[in-house]
Amino acid sequence: MTTFVGTKNTHAVLSSIPGPVRLLLNGKPVSVEGGPSQRLSAVLRDQLGTRDVKIGCNAGDCGACTVLVDGDPVCSCLTAICQVSGKQVDTLAGLKDSDPIMQQLMRSFLVHGAAQCGICTPGMLVTAVYLLRQTPHPSVQQVQDSLGGVLCRCTGYRKIIDAVVNSTGVAISEGASTGCRSESSKCKQSVGVSIQRLDGQSKVDGSDQFGDDVFPDNAFLLRLIRSPHHRASFHFGDFNKYIDEHSGIHSIFTADDIPGSNRFGVIPPFIDQPVFAESIARFKGEAVAAVVGDADAMEQLNLDAFPITWTEERALLNPVEALADDNLRVHENAHKNVLCEGLVQCGDVETAFGNSHLRVKGRFTTGFIEHAYIEPEAGYANRVGDSLEVYGCTQAPYMDRDSLSEILALEPARVRIVPTSTGGGFGSKLDLSFQPFIALAAWLLDHPVRVTYTRQESMQSTTKRHPSIMDVDIAVDATGRISAFKFEGVFNTGAYASWGPTVANRVPVHASGPYWTPNYRAHTTGVYTHSAPAGAFRGFGVPQAAIAQECVFDELAEKLAMDRLAFRKLNALDNNQPTVTGQTFDKAVGIKACLESLELPWATALLEASQFNQKAQATGSSVRRGVGIASGWYGCGNTSLANPSTIKVGVSKRGDICLHQGAVDIGQGSNTVIIQIFAEAFGVSVDNISLVGADTAITPDAGKTSASRQTFVSGNAAKLSALALRKIIARRTNCKECQSIDIEGSVITINQGLKDEANLDLASLPSDEEGYVFKAEESYNPPTKPLDENGQGIPYALYGYAAQMVSLDVDTLLGTVKLQYFTAAHDVGRAINPQLVEGQIHGGIAQGIGLALMEEFIPGRTENLHDYLIPTIGDVPPIETIIVEVEDPHGPYGAKGLGEHVLIPTAPAILNAITHACGAKIRDLPATPDKVLAAIHSNTEGC
Ligand code: FES
Repeated sequence: MTTFVGTKNTHAVLSSIPGPVRLLLNGKPVSVEGGPSQRLSAVLRDQLGTRDVKIGCNAGDCGACTVLVDGDPVCSCLTAICQVSGKQVDTLAGLKDSDPIMQQLMRSFLVHGAAQCGICTPGMLVTAVYLLRQTPHPSVQQVQDSLGGVLCRCTGYRKIIDAVVNSTGVAISEGASTGCRSESSKCKQSVGVSIQRLDGQSKVDGSDQFGDDVFPDNAFLLRLIRSPHHRASFHFGDFNKYIDEHSGIHSIFTADDIPGSNRFGVIPPFIDQPVFAESIARFKGEAVAAVVGDADAMEQLNLDAFPITWTEERALLNPVEALADDNLRVHENAHKNVLCEGLVQCGDVETAFGNSHLRVKGRFTTGFIEHAYIEPEAGYANRVGDSLEVYGCTQAPYMDRDSLSEILALEPARVRIVPTSTGGGFGSKLDLSFQPFIALAAWLLDHPVRVTYTRQESMQSTTKRHPSIMDVDIAVDATGRISAFKFEGVFNTGAYASWGPTVANRVPVHASGPYWTPNYRAHTTGVYTHSAPAGAFRGFGVPQAAIAQECVFDELAEKLAMDRLAFRKLNALDNNQPTVTGQTFDKAVGIKACLESLELPWATALLEASQFNQKAQATGSSVRRGVGIASGWYGCGNTSLANPSTIKVGVSKRGDICLHQGAVDIGQGSNTVIIQIFAEAFGVSVDNISLVGADTAITPDAGKTSASRQTFVSGNAAKLSALALRKIIARRTNCKECQSIDIEGSVITINQGLKDEANLDLASLPSDEEGYVFKAEESYNPPTKPLDENGQGIPYALYGYAAQMVSLDVDTLLGTVKLQYFTAAHDVGRAINPQLVEGQIHGGIAQGIGLALMEEFIPGRTENLHDYLIPTIGDVPPIETIIVEVEDPHGPYGAKGLGEHVLIPTAPAILNAITHACGAKIRDLPATPDKVLAAIHSNTEGC
């Protein structure tokens, strides 16, 4: 039975309640206070408490706030409250209890792994319910048409499509299971099993709480004054007068109010970003002051009247210009605006070029790429006695804690970071953004203070993928083997360092790609400009470098008249061959296995393309089909730096096994995967484990969620903790060894052999201050060695490998590109949870599509989600995933990381396919139709 009530019935019910605007919300009559032009989304969340409705843009671009009004889907952020007067409004929170279609869909989303971070999920589900009411058995195309207005940045949409198309085929028992799918909760095999996401239920029922969902009702609201210019000096006016003239303001904060250091950053020698700019703003959107007051007053406050005078100054926006202009420095101590340089070299490059058989050079450029997670930055802070608590979205709670303690001049132990669910991060939420402002205000006002960035603020002020200018020069010998390789890259780090040094150091290590390259020189320069800071974004510069290397590889193969896959396989790094940093692996190099797994799909796709093009030529069609391939590799964890994770576990008197797992799950699945690893090592079902999620007060430091390190590093720490706990329990029961463990209520049974059991009643044992009878805490730090002045050393304990191919069509009259399908082969060492692996691959490919075809952040111009385009559900074609498992001895159960690898080959594979289709060589991304057309026309060997 559904709760849908026709308009006639709704009027009858509502006529009995008071208020100017009355509606039926999730089947209950409600009246709304305030003006008729309020946004429905804001009223639903702030006044009526339906925070399952998420807000991603307030402009109708992302669809996260979709609700049903009299059964029709609308963006509630674009709907005035007066427009729903007398109508029925349904959100996920109501539909989940009353609508069987929604209940079936929720189960299907869980079973198919269709929710990652979950911030888009309520909007997706509500929109899909509308579709399924009209069309109970929709086609893929109908799902794409219907859900086209709801954006997802995590999943790549394919699992969402599967979940909607197949929702009626999901059994009720499947949806209810959160643990092992086989037989029963006694199942002890966890690793390698596609169990459902353990934190999935709250994502599909709308109860997951993100940064904007957790603040207390009495919290003050903070708004920021930001620079309207790329570079500007400024002077403040009379704050007291402004406060007097605007009721509800409690305080204004600037750099002068910061008790500690007005600086933050992520790499100690390069900490250069002020919380509030002092006298000069270095990028458009930089904060200079914060206004704090009562929420209602602050919502209405006219910030244009804020007493500040701006003087626009000349700005450097182009890194080439910045390198050439030493008269204007973004930072006084940065000679020629250089932040840092990176270098890796081996062999004798010049001699090898001299002896080479063939040589291809190319220049490639990419722009700023915006993370575009659907959750804008949000959270609240509260002073508790002489300590500070900060709740909000983040990827790095301990880094946040340490930075805030410096800013506020507090001991780190007096700052507690409690991550909320994080609605996508992809690297940008590694850096502080909103936290210093609310922390400062809450500390000084001794009152809870909250903030939620607008979409424009989020896009203006948070970190981006580094724009790049890359020159590559690669030579081969007569057999087709890479003989010499030069790479010179300039990376625009924007106004502040952020992760610029990491990009500058990581790119030279990876720019060769996963190929044996005996003579190599890769040099990078990070350059300051007056742009939004560039930082970490899925790959730390490696996706940009792969574009240059993989496109030139195609040209070399063409000149050699070699098949492009065969050329890559010939040069693929093998076991016992040195990488460009001189590191060798004796058994875990998986790139050849990835390429070999693509051989059949590759041959099939080439044949299909050839037949397609013959037919197109015969019929006079302007469409040409092309097939592209590219590889990638990525070192998991920090580059040659300490990188530990610590995981703690406690067993209570009741037999609860509580895993203190502080690795923040931003949608990638660490809350599930790390429990799977722990359960496997300890020898119990995942259903026996309770998660104690990230909180600096109660979980040890599991490091940041970045660099594809959590499965590998925190997974190892979880495994070590499990083994340590087994030992402790075995000792306590005088068992020499423990072959298996069973927990039934408070009784643990240790099995030493066939009939040799020891029982222990936990209830009879003393517990510690945390309530634990047994406890273990272990750390893992990947073994690396520093790089020398030539970049030689051991930067990572392990790498993951990937090869992807794509088939696509180019309309040579329009320049448009239509993707047909991807086949993606990824060596993950061991797939701890194959479904989550697939989800990561799909999501990475979607972001790679954006990088290749449509995305470019232009400061001051593309600061919203209608000018900045990201792939929609209609842009991501079917993806066949091939999971390759070349186990690594360092990984837990052989597992390697995956998070960044998934998008590295995507963009170059697309560019190579475009060239294959019509000869157009795109060297300046994104490959928008105008650029593809221009390249077709300038290509004398074109189609
Ligand atoms: Fe869709 Fe994260 S799961 S935006």
